[in-house]
Amino acid sequence: MATKTGATIGMAGSYNSHSLPQRALIESSKPFIEKAIEILNISSGESPVIIADFGSSHGSNSMHVIKSIIDYIQALNKTDRQFLIVHIDLPTNDWKSFFDILNHQDKKFFSMAIGQSFYKQCLPPKSLTIGYSSASIHWLSQKPCNITDHCISIFAQGDELQAFKEQARDDYRNFLENRSLELIQGGILILVMNCFNDEGLTMTESVYHLLYKCAKSILSPNEELPNYTLPVYIRSYDECVDTELFDQYSFEVIHSNMSAVDFKFYGQLKNNEMELEEFSRKQTEFIRCATDSVLREALESTGKRSKVDIDQLSNQFWSLYKEHVYQNPDDFDIKCYQTYVVLKKL
Ligand SMILES: C[S@@+](CC[C@H](N)C(=O)[O-])C[C@H]1O[C@@H](n2cnc3c(N)ncnc32)[C@H](O)[C@@H]1O
Repeated sequence: MATKTGATIGMAGSYNSHSLPQRALIESSKPFIEKAIEILNISSGESPVIIADFGSSHGSNSMHVIKSIIDYIQALNKTDRQFLIVHIDLPTNDWKSFFDILNHQDKKFFSMAIGQSFYKQCLPPKSLTIGYSSASIHWLSQKPCNITDHCISIFAQGDELQAFKEQARDDYRNFLENRSLELIQGGILILVMNCFNDEGLTMTESVYHLLYKCAKSILSPNEELPNYTLPVYIRSYDECVDTELFDQYSFEVIHSNMSAVDFKFYGQLKNNEMELEEFSRKQTEFIRCATDSVLREALESTGKRSKVDIDQLSNQFWSLYKEHVYQNPDDFDIKCYQTYVVLKKL
């Protein structure tokens, strides 16, 4: 059943501030996780049930979602088999933080990590029972071109926009093709994808405008600034629910919907539960964590900057960003539109 709604969903638990917005997305996907598990048949056997998270990052959200999945499988008495959890992220991920977090977990599952792109095959054929991915597949395998006069493809036009659209579809195709190979028959894939709403808005536009404004202040205009393009494409709902690709890779749509997830910081500021200083710091930490690598790549692109220089300029960039949020908090009542898709491998 495909629906579109506009609910906003809250957050729970305790975690570092740059995990907070992504944790909100994961919390918001719980009803769909449960729906997926309810229709899942887990056969009996000796081998472990394999569950994979595609885009695990530092791991705190990844482990949280995996625990929820296992808890619900066990609450429904779906199996007494063991669980093997596979966390997948790029080789450049912060694996040190990941293993620090993993090794401090009270786990009822075995885990392993794979450092490679999820646009490639990561697991043996017909081995995966549940695949999950949240807030990750809007990151493309590569940026197809630089964007003129902005840093993100939602403001691209003409051929540049088209190049991003095509890259995003190719990447989605590769993602689905590989998950289709890996999943067992009847296995499920749960995707939480950033998207824009029916008015063409992501509701995070102010963030991207500010990133570009700071980039214009810090980067050299002719050499570095053009390279400051995020390898990101935010899909429309229809691009997320791409039934042609789903058919091609033998997926049945069990559920899909769109909703806006409220990051809550602004509400907390307005209710005097958070000081302006903390508000601007948290807003900045979260975006810095997600995009600082792109800034650094642009600074490295000419080969003329030392590491010390780059560290200094990065700090300057984020001070500027934070100061702007501090001065203009009302521009940062941000939400994030998500498309939730639950697929079953036929
Ligand atoms: C915004 S974080 C979301 C992390 C986590 N899913 C969460 O909800 O907190 C996106 C993650 O996707 C990872 N990622 C981006 N492109 C990837 C790729 N091609 N293969 C594997 N991981 C990728 C990034 O390294 C990053 O850790």
